[in-house]
Amino acid sequence: MSHFVDSIPSSGIIRIRDMMYGVENPFRLDQGDVSFDAPDSVKQGMIDAIAAGHTHYLQTAGVPKLQHLLAAKLRERNGIPVASPDEVLVTNGGVHAIYLLFQALLDPGDEVLIPDPLWPPTSGTVAAARGTVVRYPLQEAHGWRFDHADLEARVTPRTRVVYLNSPHNPTGGVLTREDLEHVARLARERNLWVVSDEAYEDVVYDGSHVSIASLPGMYERTVPVYTFSKSYAMTGLRLGYLALHDPALRDRVRKLLFFTTSNVSSVVQYGGIGALQGPRDVVEDFREELRARRDLFFDGIERLGGVFAGSRPAGAFYAFLRFAPDWRARARQAEGAKHGSGSESWALTEYLISCGRIGCVPGVDFGPGGEGYIRFCYARERKELRGALEAMGALFTR
Ligand SMILES: Cc1ncc(COP(=O)(O)O)c(C=O)c1O
Repeated sequence: MSHFVDSIPSSGIIRIRDMMYGVENPFRLDQGDVSFDAPDSVKQGMIDAIAAGHTHYLQTAGVPKLQHLLAAKLRERNGIPVASPDEVLVTNGGVHAIYLLFQALLDPGDEVLIPDPLWPPTSGTVAAARGTVVRYPLQEAHGWRFDHADLEARVTPRTRVVYLNSPHNPTGGVLTREDLEHVARLARERNLWVVSDEAYEDVVYDGSHVSIASLPGMYERTVPVYTFSKSYAMTGLRLGYLALHDPALRDRVRKLLFFTTSNVSSVVQYGGIGALQGPRDVVEDFREELRARRDLFFDGIERLGGVFAGSRPAGAFYAFLRFAPDWRARARQAEGAKHGSGSESWALTEYLISCGRIGCVPGVDFGPGGEGYIRFCYARERKELRGALEAMGALFTR
C-alpha cells in the first residue's frame, strides 16, 4: 500500500460524519449541506433526461449545451471573458475540479499559498499532487481577510499558485476588490497562477460577488472554480465546473478528467441545464432564507452568554466561533467535558456531539489558525437550529 497516501493528512470531518451517524436525533450542523431541496427545474431536467434515454457516455468536457450555458453565465454574471464554451470543463463537483487542477499545475515540491484556516480538502489535494502547502493567515479582526504584506512575504521562487476562497469556508469572510487587486498585481509580478474557489458566489449578504478572473488581464492566469452544490442545493448530485483560458493547461486537465471520471453523470448534467434555464429567483430565495437563519443562529448564540463569540459573516453559511477558554468550567455535564482527545477544539466538539447531539467541526481541522474556534453550519431548517441552540443552552451555565 502507498506510504505516500499515508502521508497525506486526513480530515476530521470524515470522523465527525461517522460519529454523527451513531447519534440519535442529531442536529446536523457539522457538514456544509443546505437543508433545501434542489429546485423543480433541476429535478425535471433529470427526469426528462432519463425519459429521453440519456444514459450513455458523453463528451469528456461536458454536454455541449451545458458548456454553452455556463460560458454565457461566466461572461454575463461573473464578467469573465470566456471566449468559447470549449473553455468550460464540467467536473464531479468543485472538489474534483480542485483535485484535477493541482494535479495538472504542480510538480513535486511546488508551493501553493492557501488561507489558514481553510476547508480541509484544499490542503489535501495539494498534498495529493505532491505540492507543498504554505499557509497565509486570515485575521478575524479584519473580517477574516489577509494582510497584503504578509501574503507577499510568503511568496518564494517555488511558489506556483495562490489559492483564494471568497466567500470563505469556514469563516464566511468575503475579500474586497482591493484584496483581489493586490493578489492580481502579485500574480502578474511573480508569474503565479491563481485558483479562485468561488463555491459560495451566490451567498454574499451585502454587495455582490467579484471574481478575480474578471479583473483586467487576470483570466489568463486564473482558474475560477464553481459548483452547483451550494447555489442550487445539489450537494449530492456532484456537479461543478471550471473555466480555463490556457489551452495547454486545459488539455492537461481534460486528460485527467477522462482518467478520473470519463465524463460526469449524464443525468446530473441535464439537471444542471435545468438549473440554468429555470427561474433564477430560487438562488435569491435561498440567500434570503440563509440570511434569516444566520440571524436566528447568532441571536441564539448571543443569548448563551459568552460561551461562543464571533461576528455575523458577510458570506457563505457558517458560524466560525471563538469559544471561551473556561468552557470546561461552565460545562453542566462535567464528566462529559473531561474527556476529549487532542486539542481543545476537538474536546469541545466531542462534548457538543456526545452530550448535546450537536454536530460541529473543530477549528483546528481547518488549520493551526483555527484552534480556539468551532464551526457550525447554519444552513439547516430553522427548527433544527432552534433545537441545537436549546441543547447548547442546556450544556453550559451562563
Ligand atoms: C470552499 C469550498 N470549495 C469547494 C467546495 C466543493 O463542493 P462540491 O464538491 O460539493 O462541489 C466546498 C464544499 O463544501 C467548499 O466549502
